[in-house]
Amino acid sequence: MKNKIQISIPATSANLGPGFDCLGLALGLYNHFTCQPYRENIILGEVCGPKDETNLFIRAYNAVKALVAAPKNAGIRVHFDCEIPPARGLGSSAALIVGGAIAANELFEAKLSHTQLLQICSELEGHPDNVAPALFGGLTASFTSVKEDGETFAYTQKTPLDGRFKFVVLIPSFELSTAASRRVLPKQIAFGDATYNLSHALGLTLALGQGNSTIVKESLEDRLHQPYRGTLINDYERIQRIAKETGALGAVISGAGPSVLTIWDSCSYNQLAAKLEAEKLDAVWQARYLPVCPTGAVIS
Ligand code: HSE
Repeated sequence: MKNKIQISIPATSANLGPGFDCLGLALGLYNHFTCQPYRENIILGEVCGPKDETNLFIRAYNAVKALVAAPKNAGIRVHFDCEIPPARGLGSSAALIVGGAIAANELFEAKLSHTQLLQICSELEGHPDNVAPALFGGLTASFTSVKEDGETFAYTQKTPLDGRFKFVVLIPSFELSTAASRRVLPKQIAFGDATYNLSHALGLTLALGQGNSTIVKESLEDRLHQPYRGTLINDYERIQRIAKETGALGAVISGAGPSVLTIWDSCSYNQLAAKLEAEKLDAVWQARYLPVCPTGAVIS
């Protein structure tokens, strides 16, 4: 059993427009967890989420602990240092889940692979698009398959991302829960809308890998979630306009929102923050350039 470990988990931006519950990108903003074995589970520091057993970090830790040869009463003392703002569509829940799963895997020297951890984390999160890039880094394309025995299995592929693309996240002062943001989605969609999203997501993924800015710009449209969620985000249309006017290839809702991910192939994003301030929007929006995190979870 290990004595002390530090784990850093990146923020993630899911969907990237048309890739609903599939595409995800790891970004250079981190939740850090310092973990030690302890006689019970305790959370210290700048805590994200509840401070008890219901915290997603502890739930994931317990889920992995139950699967490996760990003493039943083995607890964890974890110090949180969270940079990822919660309820902003930047994968703060996924970071807690991946952090807890990795903590148990490392402390008990269980040697579960990232693919095995993906199953556990994906089940806890309900979909794989945030936990996959949090684990593997970079840009990932994920899906969940149902096996013959009814078990689900999450698959992910790390997919190339051309270095010309830069990402600026616009983070508002208000929160939006994923549950509320999923509630507004339709139960059924038209066949044409499914085809539209499938084709756009495929085109976008290939264009991001091949450095084709024109196709990236044209393929960011989506008919599955953004038309419904946009109404929940104050200033959404003005933010879209500002991003386009300053030269972004596009602006999409980051995960379930309310943050907006803007995609660029030039450095003109420097003007974005000034323009946001000049517009006198209803909420305070912070523009943060975030480099891509190529590694995913880092353990030291
Ligand atoms: N794909 C998810 C959604 C990400 O858009 O609801 C948020 O967890």
